[in-house]
Amino acid sequence: MSELLQLPAWQALQQHYSKITLLTMRDLFAQNPNRFQNFSLEGNALLLDYSKNRITQETMQLLYQLAYESELSAKINAMFSGQAINYTENRSVLHIALRNQSQQAIYVDGIDIMPKVRSVLSHMREFVSVVRNGLWKGYGGQRVTDVINIGIGGSDLGPKMVVQALQPYQTKDLNFHFVSNIDGADIQSVLNKINPETCLFLVASKTFTTQETLTNAHTARKWLLDHYQDKKAVASHFVAISTNAVAVKAFGIDVANMFEFWDWVGGRYSLWSAIGLSIALAIGMDNFQAMLQGGHQMDEHFRTADFEKNMPVILALLGIWYHNFFQAESHAILPYDQLLSQLPSYLQQADMESNGKSVNNQGKTVDYSTGPIIWGQSGTNGQHAFYQLIHQGTHLIPADFILPIKSHFNIGEHHNILVANCFAQTEALMLGRTEAELRQQGIDESVLPYRVFSGNRPSNTLMLEKITPKTLGSLIALYEHKIFVQGVIWQINSFDQWGVELGKQLASKILPELSQTEVSENHDSSTNGLIDYYKSYYRSINR
Ligand code: F6P
Repeated sequence: MSELLQLPAWQALQQHYSKITLLTMRDLFAQNPNRFQNFSLEGNALLLDYSKNRITQETMQLLYQLAYESELSAKINAMFSGQAINYTENRSVLHIALRNQSQQAIYVDGIDIMPKVRSVLSHMREFVSVVRNGLWKGYGGQRVTDVINIGIGGSDLGPKMVVQALQPYQTKDLNFHFVSNIDGADIQSVLNKINPETCLFLVASKTFTTQETLTNAHTARKWLLDHYQDKKAVASHFVAISTNAVAVKAFGIDVANMFEFWDWVGGRYSLWSAIGLSIALAIGMDNFQAMLQGGHQMDEHFRTADFEKNMPVILALLGIWYHNFFQAESHAILPYDQLLSQLPSYLQQADMESNGKSVNNQGKTVDYSTGPIIWGQSGTNGQHAFYQLIHQGTHLIPADFILPIKSHFNIGEHHNILVANCFAQTEALMLGRTEAELRQQGIDESVLPYRVFSGNRPSNTLMLEKITPKTLGSLIALYEHKIFVQGVIWQINSFDQWGVELGKQLASKILPELSQTEVSENHDSSTNGLIDYYKSYYRSINR
């Protein structure tokens, strides 16, 4: 049995679980009128209500005990002090340094990294001001109207999510586009909309070797050169964000227009770095700094607050409670704000690429479940799609409801209706509806069983004042730290991603085979069969 399953707190939770399954939240709320006060927490312009969970004070005490026994405090200190906690790549994990607003030095290999961080921020500030003021000229002398971020994974999802979320702060002078997919439809649909004379491509890639990004960037480069017929035009229309100066130069991008970041920034934690250049161009550098400040405030909260008052820790422990004890396989992210519509996709990578691991820090296969499946959609759209299954299906799906108190769009009753729906959903999930209640309403006996809601379905509600650069920064950092805490408890490395390698390697082996005429023999019969079917069908329709 693994170390984790032998921890006294884990074993106690196992025992406690059988007691909890006998309780309903409906009863717990009826017995304790202060349940909301007892299980909610405010800070950093965020309110976390976790009272609608299948927990008692004892549950929480046992979960905190699990965090202590997992030496969480030491692990937090290890991250913040720059230790190489990404032990399979021998790297520090210091996205917190990118938003460090204190004068505190942060060391990697004995060198303070803060001067470099500040220097890139100044480079970004200078560039953002030049572009936003129309002083950056294309090769033909025109100002920029369209910014196209070419990147994938962490070099796409974070910036795309934030640019969308902070749309009310966006300059009207620039249009923003995000190209990620290798499918030519993605880049082509953007190229169709923009003018080569007024476009600016940001090639965002930590490694600058990612096939999708490089292929899209080369297609964009060719499109630009087809227009200008002069290679010198590349420098006026392309900038790079990368850790790989050699590859950037080889692409033809002036290294003076390269925005650097470092191997201690994980791709999925990189929106705070120069990878966030599209964000800074959209909302301006002061707003970008406000987002960093929001992130930093959450870092300070996470680093200093007792576990009992620590939002990321509480969210992480509740996640473990459902995932490992109730065997809930997934977790839904349900933002009640259209501006946050990309948040579920963003958190999908942040969480699933981080904690989708099955080997622990001792190199042993784990004997417990790790990372949940993260999914979701903005409310109220989700209500008319998958909430049926959350309410009456056979799966237990813990969910986070995220709601701003004030909307950026004051249109009639829209916001109140949205808010009412959000609260109603968490109430319905918790309370359910009994046969007796249905009878009282005069519901026909023949349909009674179909109309019962079992209830007792857990949710957290996160309320923030308004979506601003600062509150969004705090919200993102909250989830980053939640993911980290879960990784610590599961004793896995949340910061590598070896699981994406195999597919990449096999794709590069298959690619040349697609243009060969011989029958495929290099793979299993299914893969050979698919390759051959594709090739012969393709040839037959392209004669
Ligand atoms: O999906 C694998 C991955 O390495 C992610 O971790 C990363 O965000 C993405 O690819 C893009 O990588 P890069 O920024 O190096 O192009």
